[in-house]
Amino acid sequence: MDHAATTPVHPEVVEAMLPYLTGIYGNASSTHQAGRAARHALNDARDRIAAFVGCRPAELVFTGSGTESDNTALFGAAEAGRERGKHIITTQIEHHAVLHACERLEQLGYDVTYLPVDALGQVAPADVEAAIRPDTILISVMYGNNEVGTLQPIVEIGELARSKGICFHVDAVQALAHVPIDLRTLPVDLMSFSAHKLNGPKGVGALYIAKHVRLSPLMFGGSQERKRRPGTENTAGISGFAKAVQIFERNRYELQQKMEKLRQEMVNELRIRLGEHAFVINGHPTERLPHILNVSFPGISTETMLMNLDLAGIAAASGSACTSGSLEVSHVLQAMRLPEEITNSAVRFSFGTNNTLEQVTAVAQIVETIMSRLRK
Ligand SMILES: Cc1ncc(COP(=O)(O)O)c(C=O)c1O
Repeated sequence: MDHAATTPVHPEVVEAMLPYLTGIYGNASSTHQAGRAARHALNDARDRIAAFVGCRPAELVFTGSGTESDNTALFGAAEAGRERGKHIITTQIEHHAVLHACERLEQLGYDVTYLPVDALGQVAPADVEAAIRPDTILISVMYGNNEVGTLQPIVEIGELARSKGICFHVDAVQALAHVPIDLRTLPVDLMSFSAHKLNGPKGVGALYIAKHVRLSPLMFGGSQERKRRPGTENTAGISGFAKAVQIFERNRYELQQKMEKLRQEMVNELRIRLGEHAFVINGHPTERLPHILNVSFPGISTETMLMNLDLAGIAAASGSACTSGSLEVSHVLQAMRLPEEITNSAVRFSFGTNNTLEQVTAVAQIVETIMSRLRK
């Protein structure tokens, strides 16, 4: 129940990766046969992922994680735009890969505006518009939030950014494969992805860089990825990423329906077992990712619920994976200005392709048992 943190690697993905860890181990920069075989795999993977998100293959740069994609976008656009200005706009509910990068940019002399969100976790395009200054060079707003699942109005924000000639970055790490993404129609300049959220391998990400965008690289070295991300390419990981995308593409409709069904079943089961008033669902009721369900059980702390679930063999989370390690109150729920009893008792369940309705029922039953035991 913690697939927003990561997902199991699909067996077909493992199969697709294996040849590049064994026989076809060439360096994609080598000009001999072994190198050309690796290059061929990279080209195929780039073509497939680019087609999936609706961009040109040359607009896709492979990275070592979603975090690296976010950092490349932010530091790259900040550096490239610094002659024009040093103001950046983002939101208070971004992943730490964006928030902590922005904090570093502040230390480097940039000025960052962190926009608030409403109680459902959405940022208002009017707030973005009001925050834009003549020296604004970058706007970064995530597509779907990793803690509560709320989708952001990225089309409206992107159109605003475009009308002012400001670079627009979207962290789509949680959204990829769960909502359709067509970069031919989206007014977005930079978009970050990560393979391990959709049954691909860990340590592989991608950054869409629209053809017209000028971006300074984070790293310097060889001429891989057209010098935008030097370093010998992770052929196996990238091939696995492409296979994961292919699997989602093949079953897109069924998988989205399945996520919705699992989520709905969890809500129904909790209603039947606990009663309507024993829990509160956090996030937007309709503008949301299908695989995330954030629920508060007022009166029972997040820590207590997670510990009891863990003892029963159920993996759930309090928010992003790193905050659940230290169990600090979620910055997302805080930004939504929810009452303390809600922020202190929130648990994130997130569903994956291998979950079944039976598992969901069993988890709801375990939650019921935990609640009644603790209440006694
Ligand atoms: C919205 C969002 N952005 C970025 C990341 C970071 O991705 P990665 O784990 O590949 O570094 C995550 C991972 O949890 C995420 O949910």
